[in-house]
Amino acid sequence: MVDPREATEAFALPIPPARFQLGDPHWLLELRQLPWPTDWAACFGRSGPLHVELGFGDGAFLTALARRMPEANCVGVERALEPTRWALKRLRRERLENVRLVLGDAFAALALLFPPESIAGVYINFPDPWPKARHHHRRLLTPAFLQLIAHRLQPEGTLLIATDDADYGLWIAEALKETPGLESALETPWVHTLPDRELTRYERKALAAGRTCFYFIWRRSGPVPAPPLPRMLRPEEAMPHRIWKGTPELSRIVETLRGRLWQDGETIWRVKGLYRPVEGDGLLIELLIAEGPWVETVALRFQPHGAGAWILKPAEIGGLRPTLALKMGVQAVARAIEEATPELQILSSTI
Ligand SMILES: C[S@@+](CC[C@H](N)C(=O)[O-])C[C@H]1O[C@@H](n2cnc3c(N)ncnc32)[C@H](O)[C@@H]1O
Repeated sequence: MVDPREATEAFALPIPPARFQLGDPHWLLELRQLPWPTDWAACFGRSGPLHVELGFGDGAFLTALARRMPEANCVGVERALEPTRWALKRLRRERLENVRLVLGDAFAALALLFPPESIAGVYINFPDPWPKARHHHRRLLTPAFLQLIAHRLQPEGTLLIATDDADYGLWIAEALKETPGLESALETPWVHTLPDRELTRYERKALAAGRTCFYFIWRRSGPVPAPPLPRMLRPEEAMPHRIWKGTPELSRIVETLRGRLWQDGETIWRVKGLYRPVEGDGLLIELLIAEGPWVETVALRFQPHGAGAWILKPAEIGGLRPTLALKMGVQAVARAIEEATPELQILSSTI
């Protein structure tokens, strides 16, 4: 296996990527540019069982899957650019035609791109364990996310999860047990070895360090109620933003925004942090958005925008979910900015 860190080929992913202008048009797809749901048979140019790996890292497992199942259409979802670059390099080298990489958030991809009962296999290898209790809400495998996976699996479709974190393993076991329509395909809820498996980069590290791995193989065995999902913006809707003419008083805006909380029914927005850039003018606003079980933290930028104008917009880092709640969060922060600096005049706004 080639160590992806040895990759030397010059390669840059544009941010945001231009429409598939990467020299590999059929391998790399950008979540925001795909139709909801996506017609995967059209995308692969043939129909075939869909297998989806979430958080594919360097792509070794995904490409092995595609090699072992040439009849399958294999989709990988990853939100980080660097691993995507490694996986793409691997695909270029192996010229595998039955793989597509989606750059974006696993939750949003699963919710938007895949219809109910459309996936034959979902694979999640070594999801980030977020060991501190106060970070548990960042874990990918929440009960709500498992219900979404179950809902997208075909009857008898399987879900494979691997982790080397015992605490996360027990949390996953508990959450799987609570998920309607799923049962273990093994005799026990998990096993500690799974022979004949392509080891992932994290798995190799875990095994070399002597850590015990937990492997779960669960299958769709019954009906799954539609999961509660955040309301998403349509892909054609612009990312929410507002532009003003005038000179904002940043210290007053900071005072107004610090610790601010808004609530609308089940949805809560809380300003978690405010940061000033080391150089230049502006603010980075860390905003927590909780829509029932769906919690995420996003960053909004408030910064100069041409001569005499300022813009408030989401900072597109880490695969934003384009939800209605994000739009409403930008709206709430924009109103607070206007409260602190009423002299600002709106030049344009999508919120
Ligand atoms: C600990 S690494 C494991 C990588 C690989 N599966 C392996 O076993 O070597 C977790 C991976 O999941 C990705 N990831 C985490 N949260 C994600 C999300 N919400 N959507 C897509 N990818 C995610 C990270 O970028 C990272 O590449």
